[in-house]
Amino acid sequence: MQKQAMASSKFLLLSLSLLLIALSFVPNFTSASLEEANALQKWKASLQIPNNSQIVSSWTPLPMNNSAPALCPSWFGIACNADGNINRLNLSTSELKGTLHQFPFSILGNLTHFQLSINSFFGPIPPEIGLLSKLVYLDFSANQFSGVIPPTIGKLSIFSRTV
Ligand SMILES: *[C@@H]1O[C@H](CO)[C@@H](O)[C@H](O)[C@H]1NC(C)=O
Ligand SMILES: *[C@@H]1O[C@H](CO)[C@@H](O)[C@H](O)[C@H]1NC(C)=O
Ligand SMILES: *[C@@H]1O[C@H](CO)[C@@H](O)[C@H](O)[C@H]1NC(C)=O
Ligand SMILES: *[C@@H]1O[C@H](CO)[C@@H](O)[C@H](O)[C@H]1NC(C)=O
Repeated sequence: MQKQAMASSKFLLLSLSLLLIALSFVPNFTSASLEEANALQKWKASLQIPNNSQIVSSWTPLPMNNSAPALCPSWFGIACNADGNINRLNLSTSELKGTLHQFPFSILGNLTHFQLSINSFFGPIPPEIGLLSKLVYLDFSANQFSGVIPPTIGKLSIFSRTV
């Protein structure tokens, strides 16, 4: 009887330490992606979006204490890397109208793929787009962007189908 109790408490200890080890490997999804999500939320507020858009229904404010690692996949058009940072944004063909003035280029530095094609975006493409240093795929085609493509965009390693 005593032996059994001891064995089970040993087992409990072992499970507990395994759990702690496992937890220490869980990446910190909260801080980075929360800041990114809140920044995108502000940009969203500057756009005209159809009421029935999945952006309206899924890009919802996150509680500041959010600890759910699931926030990335829950937002339409967004994917995250293993660290929980947003690395892909695809809002192609979403009937969006607006500008990139409030787009959080400085916060979304981990973006590798950025697609806004087939919408009604207008105005200039801000030079801050050069801050997206990891960008390998950009598609802004079929919009009404104006002006010149900022020279900072030359930092892109691959530059496909643009304005
Ligand atoms: C969209 O929703 C807003 C607020 O709910 C409403 O005022 C507006 O008329 C709706 N627009 C369309 C096109 O349904
Ligand atoms: C986060 O805050 C909300 C509202 O303040 C609360 O209802 C919820 O329980 C909190 N969640 C966690 C994980 O602390
Ligand atoms: C981007 O989104 C559009 C529209 O939802 C979809 O057709 C396309 O396959 C997506 N592209 C990628 C690379 O996921
Ligand atoms: C990518 O995300 C990491 C983790 O949040 C951050 O430290 C780093 O500065 C980001 N990279 C860029 C280029 O913004």
